[in-house]
This record gives sequence, C-alpha cells and structure tokens, in this order.
Amino acid sequence: MTLILGIESSCDETGVGIVRLGPRGELELLGDEVASSVEQHARFGGVVPEVASRAHLEAMVPTMKRAIAAAGVELSDVDAVAVTCGPGLAGALLVGVSAAKAYAAALDVPLYGVNHLAGHVAADTLQHGPLPSPCLALLVSGGHTQLLLVDDLAGKITEIGSTIDDAAGEAYDKVARILGLPYPGGPPIDRAAGRGNPAAIAFPRGLTGQRQSELGRRPYDFSFSGLKTAVARWVEARERDGEPVPVDDVAASFQEAVADVLTAKAVRAAGELGIGTLVVSGGVAANSRLSALAAQRCAEAGIELRVPRPRLCTDNGAMIAALGAHLVAAGVPPSALDLSADPALPVGTVSV
Ligand code: KG4
Ligand code: ZN
Repeated sequence: MTLILGIESSCDETGVGIVRLGPRGELELLGDEVASSVEQHARFGGVVPEVASRAHLEAMVPTMKRAIAAAGVELSDVDAVAVTCGPGLAGALLVGVSAAKAYAAALDVPLYGVNHLAGHVAADTLQHGPLPSPCLALLVSGGHTQLLLVDDLAGKITEIGSTIDDAAGEAYDKVARILGLPYPGGPPIDRAAGRGNPAAIAFPRGLTGQRQSELGRRPYDFSFSGLKTAVARWVEARERDGEPVPVDDVAASFQEAVADVLTAKAVRAAGELGIGTLVVSGGVAANSRLSALAAQRCAEAGIELRVPRPRLCTDNGAMIAALGAHLVAAGVPPSALDLSADPALPVGTVSV
C-alpha cells in the first residue's frame, strides 16, 4: 500500500490531494482540498498571474494541513509526492513545485513532476477505475481544448486535435462578459441557457466545413474565436437597433454551438479511430448541455462515455495524486530534485 500526495497550482486553484494506491493498482481517494483565488480575479474578468501566485503562497500550507487531516493520515505516512510542473502560469507553477520539493526532501520520498493535462484525464480513474487502452479524452478547460489519444496514462498520450485559438472555457468567459454575466462565465451561461432557446440564433460551428483541410488544419482541431466574435456582432447589432438583448437565447444558442462542435468531433474521432471509450474532463465538462449531448451521441455511436463528477473535472490536487499513483504503479522513474516548472509542457510529456 502506497500513499501519494498530489499538489496542483497551475492556475487559480491551490489543490492538495491524497490517494492510496492498492496492491493491484486500485486507487482510493482519501483527501481532496482546494483553495481558489477565483474571487480575487473576478473583477478583472480573467486570472491575474501575480495575484494567483501570491494566493498559492498563502494557501499552500493551510490546504496541505486540511488535506492531511481530511485523509486521516500523517505527513510522515506519505510515500511519494506528485506535483504539476506544467503547463500553466510560470509563477503559479513555481509555488507548487517548490512546495513539492520541500515536502519530498523533508520526507525523503520520491518526487514526480507531472503534466496537468494528463492529470485531468487521470482524475476519471478515481471515480470509474482503470481506463481501457486505447481511449480518447476530450479535455475542455479554461486554458485548453484538446482531443487526446490515450494509450497509457503513465506514458503515452498523443494530441490528435486542439483549439487553434480560444479554449472552450475561454469562449464561455468572453461571451459571459459580452452578456454582462459574471466571471467565470461557464456556470452563469449554463444557467441562462437552461431558460433560453438553443435554436434561436444559428451561430457558426468553427472548423466543421469542407474548408478545414484546405486551411491546412488537422481534422480534429477546434476554433472558438469566430463563434465568440459572432456572438459579439449579434449583440452589438441588437444594441445598435435599440432592442433588448435576449440573454437567455444568446446563451443557449452559443452553448449549443460549443457542445455541438465538441461532441461531433470527439464522437467522429472515436468512430474513425475505432475507439470504444471517450472521457470528457476539465472545467467545461461540468457543462450540462455538453454532458447531455455527449451522452446522446455516444449512445447512438455505441461509445462508452466517462465524465468525472464536477469536483474532479475542475482543477484539483487529487487528479495529480492519481496520475502520480499511475506512474508509481507503472515503475516510472521519479524526477530529479532540480525539477523546474515548464509553462509550455507539451501534453505528450506525462512526467518529467
Ligand atoms: O479546468 P478548469 O477548472 O481550469 C483550467 O484549467 O482552466 O476550467 C475552468 C473553466 C472556466 O473557463 C469556466 O468558465 C469553465 O471551466 N466552466 C464551465 C462550467 N463550469 C466551469 N463552462 C461551461 N459550463 C459550466 N457549467
Ligand atoms: Zn485544468
């Protein structure tokens, strides 16, 4: 039995998770504590890196103490430390990496620098058990929108598509701002959309036409900046005409376009590549329409859909502990103690 501590600080959440790795590779989540600085960023409409770094510094030790207490263990019981070393905000990552090094050195246990994006996929194994190989992962967050071919969570992840401009969550945050809704935009748009008509406005579906290959884009790439601009133009035109903006209908129509494109491409990729399981993770996976449409389209195509509960979808330390546990179980060598943060760590590099 092995106890893995996971530390996450790539954006605006300070997360500490504790996972127990059993003798047959099974994972048990013992503790999962998160301190968010999202409220400090709200008035800026996006994450302010310096504010996030400072908040991580202040939250790290208290969050660690809460996680250890919640798990009912002692720090000295920890057998390995895993930490997000990228991708993410440089200063924010450094706080987590420095803390992880200090804990690993003080406890004299191995340190694993891991990829945040692979961590989002690993989160699902805490709830639904081991992933079949290969499987497909749709990762949708504030910073990333990617379609990943996952052969082995501990080492072989290949990006087969990604956004060429805005991430899906970023589009939510920008459209929320256009509609006068608070930051982060996902939850308020999701709520407004529930009251609106998704067929009210035909917003564009980026990179879904014939022109995609002519433009030299990969077949599973995404684009959301044209959609955001279309929403902005539509709202401006209404305001220019002195007419009220039907916020609920705009939100529902926008949300339908995002969910349509994401699920259509993911399900098409699974079919074309002959893959039977799709995992959807990242903050936007909490979206009600995305999960409903994914469930419908996966059922029609005979694909198993796995969506972790919202708490595991948004940034947390448990997902990093889970990925660390998979690395330990697979016998992957730990990182050197001179490990540093890499803000642009590619998704193919699962651990450093
Ligand atoms: O994964 P996450 O917590 O942090 C990043 O790594 O970015 O994702 C945050 C993003 C934000 O853009 C937020 O607006 C979006 O997830 N989000 C949602 C919902 N809840 C959070 N987007 C759509 N619908 C939701 N219900
Ligand atoms: Zn994330």
